[in-house]
Amino acid sequence: MDREGRLCVGVFDSGSGGMTLLAECRRLLPRVRFYYFGDNGNAPYGGRSREELLSLSRRAMDVFSAVGADAALIACNTVTTACIGDLRREYPFPVVGTEPALRAAAGCQNLLVLATAATLKSGEYARLQRERRGRTVCFAPERLVAAIEKNAPFLGRIGIADHLPPLRPDGVVLGCTHFVYLKEAIGKFYGAPCFDGNAGTAKQL
Ligand code: DGL
Repeated sequence: MDREGRLCVGVFDSGSGGMTLLAECRRLLPRVRFYYFGDNGNAPYGGRSREELLSLSRRAMDVFSAVGADAALIACNTVTTACIGDLRREYPFPVVGTEPALRAAAGCQNLLVLATAATLKSGEYARLQRERRGRTVCFAPERLVAAIEKNAPFLGRIGIADHLPPLRPDGVVLGCTHFVYLKEAIGKFYGAPCFDGNAGTAKQL
């Protein structure tokens, strides 16, 4: 808690993507004090190994410990699916994470899931995918995270057609918090609804 008695939550992402989730959390929890740790110097995380992700995440968690955070929010699908279990075991405060919102898109018969390569190859993602019925195509537009980091806040400069697969899905899961910035543009590109985990994760927090 801070000096004014407000709960403090540390929010962590590889860079700016987690701010899409932070915005949702601030809307739902206006009395909570948030600290944001964006590891822009080491982004993107999507091509990194589980060991690297765990070691980078510990640096953020150590900062949250040092500032006396009451909880941590992993605003990164890549870190959540790779190593949230380790972080929960190692740190004394609750650790909340975010994962691709496949359940929210359960009604789609021809789903496209956009996430990082690390998320898509994780055991946690395989578990989510096993629960699903209906056709699902997974795609990791790896250069898109770097383009968002480089161009923010002028995201209109990004030619999304260069990053997205030419498919006709009836729904798109944005399984990376960076992609939520482009929710409207991706929805228009495919003419299909986009689903993300931000509202559900903020509620869980
Ligand atoms: N924003 C992150 C996610 O939700 C990580 C993106 C990256 O650094 O590759 O997965």
